[in-house]
Amino acid sequence: MPVEPNDAARILVVDDEKVIREILAEFLTLEGYSVASVEDGEKALTELRIRPYDLVITDLKMPRLSGLQLLERIGEENISVLTVIMTGFGTVETAIEAMKKGAYDYLLKPFKVEEVIHVVRRALYRQRLQAENIRLREALTIYKVSEAIALSHDIEHILDVVLRAALDEVKADIATLHLLDPRSGSYEERVKVVASDSAPHGAPAPAFAVLAEQFAQGAPILAHGGKAGRFFTEQHAPDELSSFVAVPLQVRASMVGVLNVFSFTPGKKFDEGHRKLLSVLASRAASAIDNARLYGELRASNDSLTRANLSLEEMFQQTVAGFAQALEESDLYTRGHSERVAVYSEILTRGLTLPDAEVRRIVQAGVMHDVGKIGVRYDMLNKPGKLTPEEVAVFRQHPEKGKRILEPVPCLHGLIDGCWCHHEWFDGGGYPRGLRGHDIPLVGRVVAIADAYDAMTSDRAYRRALPHEVAMGEIERCAGTQFDPELADAFIQLVEAWRRGMIERGQGSLIPR
Ligand SMILES: [Fe+2]
Repeated sequence: MPVEPNDAARILVVDDEKVIREILAEFLTLEGYSVASVEDGEKALTELRIRPYDLVITDLKMPRLSGLQLLERIGEENISVLTVIMTGFGTVETAIEAMKKGAYDYLLKPFKVEEVIHVVRRALYRQRLQAENIRLREALTIYKVSEAIALSHDIEHILDVVLRAALDEVKADIATLHLLDPRSGSYEERVKVVASDSAPHGAPAPAFAVLAEQFAQGAPILAHGGKAGRFFTEQHAPDELSSFVAVPLQVRASMVGVLNVFSFTPGKKFDEGHRKLLSVLASRAASAIDNARLYGELRASNDSLTRANLSLEEMFQQTVAGFAQALEESDLYTRGHSERVAVYSEILTRGLTLPDAEVRRIVQAGVMHDVGKIGVRYDMLNKPGKLTPEEVAVFRQHPEKGKRILEPVPCLHGLIDGCWCHHEWFDGGGYPRGLRGHDIPLVGRVVAIADAYDAMTSDRAYRRALPHEVAMGEIERCAGTQFDPELADAFIQLVEAWRRGMIERGQGSLIPR
């Protein structure tokens, strides 16, 4: 038998005969056990309630409370201890009855010392296996619960899993979990699980101040019957409460909640093992809840950031639309021009497979490209005849003016190049700066083509719209001088493809003739 005598297992000997008590105590102590003895069942019960024992060796016939009655009470009170009964020769039937009531083994009087030691060792071995099984089961429960809640960001789900495990593991009638509301400082009942028919309607609410004080002193809350009453306010003291355990949920040394289990089943009491198991569950729950809250906060601030960004984006779009509108109002002949330049710019940039953000920026620059014309006199813009050299000089200021209009608005800085550079020529012959080739920003080279194509294919104050083919021929002819030749080539192909698509979709009336 693998039980070592020096395990110092605790044995309680119960017999009304002094000599039997002394003999058993003496040689079991010699064997290395820690032994106590009492003379009747009543005293044994009192002793078992105070201190934990691994084994009770009890006589059957005793005054006040017999051995069989003691067995019954141990069962009723759910005391975790193995019992071996002693009985006189010829009363085997009684011994069998005792084993039916939960005794582990029996000894027939008069017994031999070796026999007693053999039975005791066997009983203790069994006791240890049972304890290990319980520990293993508890470890498994904790492992499963931890797995189930570790990655959850849903507090209700975490509470459900933890409460269900608490209820099942300690066979409680009710389990509740109260979480501290950080804003109000009060405890709010989040989830309640009622398991058995013997549970009353509604779970009792503990007096949280009393619990908190007890937890702060490091004192466990495990109470039975009337003694549990002090953990509830007078008007909420539950009737017929059999047993009660409360354990704190702690995050970084502060209490964020309480896990409670209640037994209303007569004789069903929780023990220290249950309390420890619940403590571990509560600690896992506390960190999972903390994680879920942090995740929630992170997501909320992310959401509000996204909302703020969205409203900035909307504001930006409105600003762009406002400028474009102001421009159109000042130049009736170019009505719709900005929008169309944006459309052609998009056809070209999407065809070049530029990143989305760059496409958006260039499209907006297309809308805004002539914003500088807001500063040019209306009568000059709509003049039917040729402009005088002075007028040309004023007109040619519009890219610079556009730049100056956008500069004070930081969110419009990305559009400056489109306004400033759309009259530059690829060969350096454009204005305002005479930039050449790829020194002209891409947005400037794109908008230049889109602008020219739309200018040619729409009516102006000084001439009628040119046919699409003529405009395309002009773009091809000016590739390499006015326009970036690669972009001009791509533009011709992409716009042709776009026109074919429009005609196929029955939208041919919307394209230049
Ligand atoms: Fe322009």
